[in-house]
Amino acid sequence: MSDSALADRKNAPQHAPAASGVGPPLWLLAELTYRCPLHCAFCYNPVDYTGHRDELSTAQWLDVLQQARKLGAAQLGFSGGEPLMRDDLDTLVAEARGLGFYTNLITSGIGLTDARLDTLKANGLDHIQLSFQDSTQELNDFLSSTRTFDLKNRVARAIKAHGFPMVLNCVLHRYNLPHVDKIIDMALAMGAEYLELANTQYYGWAHANRAQLMPTAEQLREAEAVVERYREEIGNRCKIFFVVPDYFETRPKRCMNGWGSVFLGVAPDGAALPCHAARSLPGLAFPNVKDTPLAQIWYDSDAFNRFRGFDWMKEPCRSCDEKTRDLGGCRCQAYLLTLDPANADPVCDKSPEHEKVVRVVREAAQRPATLAPGEQPVLFRNDANSRRLSDHPANGTAPANTVR
Ligand code: FES
Repeated sequence: MSDSALADRKNAPQHAPAASGVGPPLWLLAELTYRCPLHCAFCYNPVDYTGHRDELSTAQWLDVLQQARKLGAAQLGFSGGEPLMRDDLDTLVAEARGLGFYTNLITSGIGLTDARLDTLKANGLDHIQLSFQDSTQELNDFLSSTRTFDLKNRVARAIKAHGFPMVLNCVLHRYNLPHVDKIIDMALAMGAEYLELANTQYYGWAHANRAQLMPTAEQLREAEAVVERYREEIGNRCKIFFVVPDYFETRPKRCMNGWGSVFLGVAPDGAALPCHAARSLPGLAFPNVKDTPLAQIWYDSDAFNRFRGFDWMKEPCRSCDEKTRDLGGCRCQAYLLTLDPANADPVCDKSPEHEKVVRVVREAAQRPATLAPGEQPVLFRNDANSRRLSDHPANGTAPANTVR
């Protein structure tokens, strides 16, 4: 986009919301790049990310931030891939601060040097979310297919030394659920203000590795009891979030608080997405910020309007007295499990396809509860596996002989 086109867009009058009562986006997730030094088995990026290599320029990202703020977005997450792979992150943070966003860096920590932390601090970054894969070096390094545990520990100390509030994020599954107490101890030792124990949700690479990662109900119960015990012991010293996986529920989550309701994601190549996993859905053309103003994308595009409101619903959602609460659940999960994104999320026990979820949980119970790293083949997120899965992104499961 030329500089004059950018200036025209910035000065353009704001788009009037459609008469539908759709509010503005509140949360912008800027997925700056799909490049990442880690290869996590549960990465939420699309399994066919290698087919989306283009990245917006610095000027294009600055324009996105300006438009989003003008639309009403207040929270901004810088994510990826690994957002630190972008040399212009510091510039984007400075712009975001100037615009009045509350900013969060969602990072593996790889590349977060003292010098970078100094600059990010000076440029106004508010918050850092640092991911760990486990409390042990063995499992952390196995699940990310890297040797990064010691480095992450150093980065955690540096984040605190620079005075940032820190969320420690650890995705949970059958490998590390038995370590929940140690993970909490690690977060406390690091001085994290928040610990997000996010049980794996099965999209993207996690869906491809579902059989390997799915825990047992007993593992979950025990982990939840541990979390409760710690919460009582530590009070407000560290706030612990424990997010239960959908497959163990009988009612679906109100995914993204509703499609096109508050969340606006922009992928590295500029595709605008109503949720992180939306790219896996067939039959939706996602508009691109390179050629369509953000207001038009948010209020007028088919992609953002497709699952707003209730008109798109089929039975049993359409006549369900709970539809205003859960909005039919998650469109991406409905597609992954039933091949129709307009179906009820089969997590709901009113769905005629709920048995598919029950079966997965039952099969998980029949496998040994704990697995040593490498005991079952795991499909790591890397370019070779992405290219292999690109033909079948929706139903990919780890081929029996694929380890890395
Ligand atoms: Fe896409 Fe739930 S993850 S709608």
